[in-house]
Amino acid sequence: MRHFLTLDDFSKDEILQMINLAGKIKKEAKVREFKPYLKDQTLAMIFEKSSTRTRVSFEVGMYQLGGHALFLSANDLQIGRGEPIKDTARVISSMCDMAMLRVNRHETLEEFAKFSQNPVINGLSDKFHPVQLMADYLTMRERGSGEKIAYIGDGNNMAHSWLMLASKLGLELRIATPKGYEPDAKILEKAQQNAKISGAKIYLSNEPKEAVAGADVVTTDTWVSMGQEGEKEKRLREFAGFCVDENLMSLAAKNAIFLHCLPAYRGYEVSEAMFEAHADEIFAEAQNRLHAQKGVMVWLNDKR
Ligand code: CP
Ligand code: NVA
Repeated sequence: MRHFLTLDDFSKDEILQMINLAGKIKKEAKVREFKPYLKDQTLAMIFEKSSTRTRVSFEVGMYQLGGHALFLSANDLQIGRGEPIKDTARVISSMCDMAMLRVNRHETLEEFAKFSQNPVINGLSDKFHPVQLMADYLTMRERGSGEKIAYIGDGNNMAHSWLMLASKLGLELRIATPKGYEPDAKILEKAQQNAKISGAKIYLSNEPKEAVAGADVVTTDTWVSMGQEGEKEKRLREFAGFCVDENLMSLAAKNAIFLHCLPAYRGYEVSEAMFEAHADEIFAEAQNRLHAQKGVMVWLNDKR
C-alpha cells in the first residue's frame, strides 16, 4: 500500500506510470467513456484550507470513476475541537477507501498516513503540492514543450514540488526568488541528491531574467500563500521585480508555455496581459487536475 505525500516517494518510472494512466483515462473521458475503475469506493477529503480546483477535481474525479467523495471541512470535524489526527485517521480509514487532505502542516498528513489503513493523498501542505505537479507535467507533455523550466517567485510548496518533479524526472529547473525566500534547504539538498541519479539540472538564483532565458516552461505562484496573510505587505514589497510580465517572458524560448497553479493575482506574480495571453494553457493545466488525479488514485488502488 502506498501513500501520495510527495513525489520524492516515487521513482521516475512510477511517476510516468501515473501520468500515462492519467492520459489514458483522459482519452476515454473525452468521448464520455467513464470506466468504473474505482467502483463503489469512497474518498474522504479533509480541508483545513480553502480550495476551488482541488475540491472540484477530486469530487468530480471520484464520481466519474464510479465512486464517491465526501467533503469534510476540518472546522466541522471533531479535529477542530481537539480530537487527535491519529484517531481521525483510524476512524476514517475504517470507513473510506482513500483519503485526501489539505493541511496547514505537512506533519499532520504524515501522522494521518501513519495511522491510516488506506492510501492517503496530499492535496497541498505547507511543504508540497504534488498532485498539482502531476497536472503540470501532463500539460507539458500534451503541449510537447521542452523540459527547461523557470520558476519565478516564492520558494514555497510549489517551488518544492517542482524541485521534486524535476529532480526525479531529470529535467532542468531554474528557480529565481528574492533573497530570503529561497526554497527550504533540506528539500533543495534532497533534490540535488536526486539530480545526481536522474541527471536533472537544478539552478538557484535571485535573478528572474537569468532563470527565464531560453526556458521552455515559465511558471510562478502567489507571493502570499494561504496562512501567510499577515506577511502580505512585507512580501509584496520584497517581491517587487519578480512579476512575470511580457518583457520577462520575451526572454524565454520561442513558443514557451506559461503555467500557473492558480489562483493567480494579477499585477503581482503575473501581469494581466501575460496571464490572458497564456490563458489557454493555464486553464488546460487546471482541467488536467481532474485527469492527473484519476491517474494517481487508480494507480494507488492498483498497488494495494
Ligand atoms: N491549484 C490549486 O490547488 O487550487 P485550489 O487551491 O483552488 O484547490
Ligand atoms: N502556494 C499556494 C498554492 C495554492 C494552490 C498556497 O499554498 O496557498
